[in-house]
Amino acid sequence: MAPVKKLSDPVRIGSVQTRNRICIPPMVLYGHAGEDGTVTDAHVEHYRALAEGGAGLIIQEATCVAPGGRLRQDQLGAWSEDQVPGLRRIVEAVHGAGCPIFLQIQHNRVEDLEAMRLGEIEGLRDAFIDAGIRAFRAGYDGVELHGCHSYLLCQFLNRRTNRRKDRYAGGLLLVQEIYDGIRAGTSMDFVIGIRLGAFEPALSDGIAHAKALEAMGLQFLDISYGFAGEMDLTAPGDPKLSPAIRGAAAIQKTVGIPVFAVEGIRTRADAENVLTTGVEITDVGRSALVDPNWPEKVLRGEPAGACMGCRTCQWRIDPARCPGRIRLRNKEEKQ
Ligand SMILES: Cc1cc2nc3c(=O)[nH]c(=O)nc-3n(C[C@H](O)[C@H](O)[C@H](O)COP(=O)(O)O)c2cc1C
Ligand code: SF4
Repeated sequence: MAPVKKLSDPVRIGSVQTRNRICIPPMVLYGHAGEDGTVTDAHVEHYRALAEGGAGLIIQEATCVAPGGRLRQDQLGAWSEDQVPGLRRIVEAVHGAGCPIFLQIQHNRVEDLEAMRLGEIEGLRDAFIDAGIRAFRAGYDGVELHGCHSYLLCQFLNRRTNRRKDRYAGGLLLVQEIYDGIRAGTSMDFVIGIRLGAFEPALSDGIAHAKALEAMGLQFLDISYGFAGEMDLTAPGDPKLSPAIRGAAAIQKTVGIPVFAVEGIRTRADAENVLTTGVEITDVGRSALVDPNWPEKVLRGEPAGACMGCRTCQWRIDPARCPGRIRLRNKEEKQ
């Protein structure tokens, strides 16, 4: 029988050693970025607090590779040299608290994938490569390609949306070219991984992608959803766990690189339950927004603040309106 994985265990991802199995996944904070997608003090303090809260690894929010690929005007960017010093401030704050940090690099979805000219695709490929190299120069320990949630790389990887007949059919070659370009411009120590949909559109596609990406050289797979609605509710595993977690567990069984699982982890028991599926790392998203000290408290066996599961996460627009954070503050004030 495989040994039981403990939340407090370190994990090796390429050259990086985490201090435990809790990763804060990427979560955009609109309204924080300065003009032209630059880092502000608010970002630096946000990530410093998450690192001081004991996370094993932080993956910084979706940071755009080209100004035209932003989800909103106030999203962070890594498309210009001018953005590197700000990004470096986040890295220094997080490293100062003893935590490694990867940068998620992203481009929004395009209207019509089939109409894209080869030159346009090559331009976006190069934008991903340049952003990855900027992340390296800013001091990040690695990058995560945003390959899920219906954005550009997800559109390429999904056989329902990618019906191209050229070399970018299937989408894997595009990821390979981005991987090779970033690797050539950085070092062997720089970690390169991807956030991938478990169902793209079916679990069998997610598994096939995972195996191909591992063979390509990617060093971790952070598993979420591809397109909304494409999830197999009958995916193997405990039905009390979300399909994304069950998908991640099925994928971990087929690859040797670390797989991260995400969704709805609020308590220590939730996180430990995720590790029993065999995945190497558990992502804790919104509960860490509510309580940045979630990892530290949970590892000490203390109760921590937790996400209350609002329909629309207020953190995207106004963290002050997060009911989970308000409840936690009220509780702390009473103590
Ligand atoms: C405010 C907010 C922003 C998010 N931004 C991103 C993002 O930038 N990139 C990404 O891959 N996922 C993003 N997500 C998805 C989270 O990384 C995570 O997968 C999701 O919240 C489920 O995990 P949780 O239940 O632990 O919160 C975001 C989620 C929230 C709530
Ligand atoms: S706003 Fe709601 S969904 Fe978002 S972290 Fe707070 S409690 Fe959770």
